[in-house]
Amino acid sequence: MSYKIGIIRGDGIGPEIISEAQKVLEAAAVRFGLEFEYTEILMGGASIDVTGLPLTDEAIEAAEGCDAVLMGSIGGNTSTSPWYKLPPDKRPEAGLLKLRKSLGLFANMRPAYLYDQLREACPLRDEIIGDGFDLVVMRELTGGLYFGERKTFEEEGLRKAVDTLSYREDEIRRIAIRGFDIAMKRRKKVTSVDKANVLDSSRLWRQVVNEVAQDYPEVELEHMLVDNCAMQLVRDPRQFDVILTENMFGDILSDEASMVTGSIGMLSSASLREGSFGLYEPSHGSAPDIAGKNIANPIATILSASMMLRYSLNLDQAADAIDAAVEKVLADGYRTLDIMSDGMTRLGTCEMGDRIAECIQLG
Ligand code: IPM
Ligand code: MG
Repeated sequence: MSYKIGIIRGDGIGPEIISEAQKVLEAAAVRFGLEFEYTEILMGGASIDVTGLPLTDEAIEAAEGCDAVLMGSIGGNTSTSPWYKLPPDKRPEAGLLKLRKSLGLFANMRPAYLYDQLREACPLRDEIIGDGFDLVVMRELTGGLYFGERKTFEEEGLRKAVDTLSYREDEIRRIAIRGFDIAMKRRKKVTSVDKANVLDSSRLWRQVVNEVAQDYPEVELEHMLVDNCAMQLVRDPRQFDVILTENMFGDILSDEASMVTGSIGMLSSASLREGSFGLYEPSHGSAPDIAGKNIANPIATILSASMMLRYSLNLDQAADAIDAAVEKVLADGYRTLDIMSDGMTRLGTCEMGDRIAECIQLG
């Protein structure tokens, strides 16, 4: 069976981590008799350098023509890169926002899981970690502040800027349904996060989430204010299963959730819509400072590739094999720099990809 995979290498460490993910995909292809056909798609700074735009219409069309898209990372150093001298809508990040919006990828799933082998990387105290935590942030991705009307202007001689946070009930309902569906496959708890003590958009969010909850009697639902949630994530992350939240809160909380695992270089993410198509990318950024040095951790991208096999291509067996290979390599004591600890064997980006691919081949 042949599958069409869009590949966005992007900027910074993007190209090198994508190469490792492809190496691992090829190992899975050989073992399970699959065929992956790759389409290279330009986005971010890499696209600006070639086309002058962070994402062209052709690139969107190419992505649409694939079964799923795997992305590395985009963006450069915001103080030194010439990309950040361009107007905001021409910068690398604008490409990613446009891709999410054009493809209607409204549901962003970001798992934050503490690998047992990486406990020592977790910045939380042992009694807080307990027997570990495993949560997923379900972030609304095509609405809210990111896509509301914005402008900067002058009023009575003073500069003023406005961003608009708006949500329509159908936008809330569809992400809530996704959150509850995922909870049904996990520990059946949803924490819906908002700022309902201040914002109208949050009060509507809460109402709609309550309505959706009626269809999921087995799922325990709680509402939590976003400031409290930020605190609870470091105080007791074990209380969370699915965190369901709007775009901006989800951006912030997902970084926090990944950092408490101590290994942001390990965390994958999926951006989904109705149907099987999805965009898969590591939760971390493009780390321009370490680009090209063969020290970046490719595991988040490799696990994103595994998520892609599972959620878009329905290849659970191959996805399981990738996940198991990652666990095995960690259990064997191999680490990249970011997760290195005493007594472990340090590997470069490329060698880590080799080990994982090898593990898949051996079965
Ligand atoms: C993320 C990133 C993006 C976002 C940026 C690069 C626009 O921080 O995927 O979390 O804010 O959504
Ligand atoms: Mg972010």
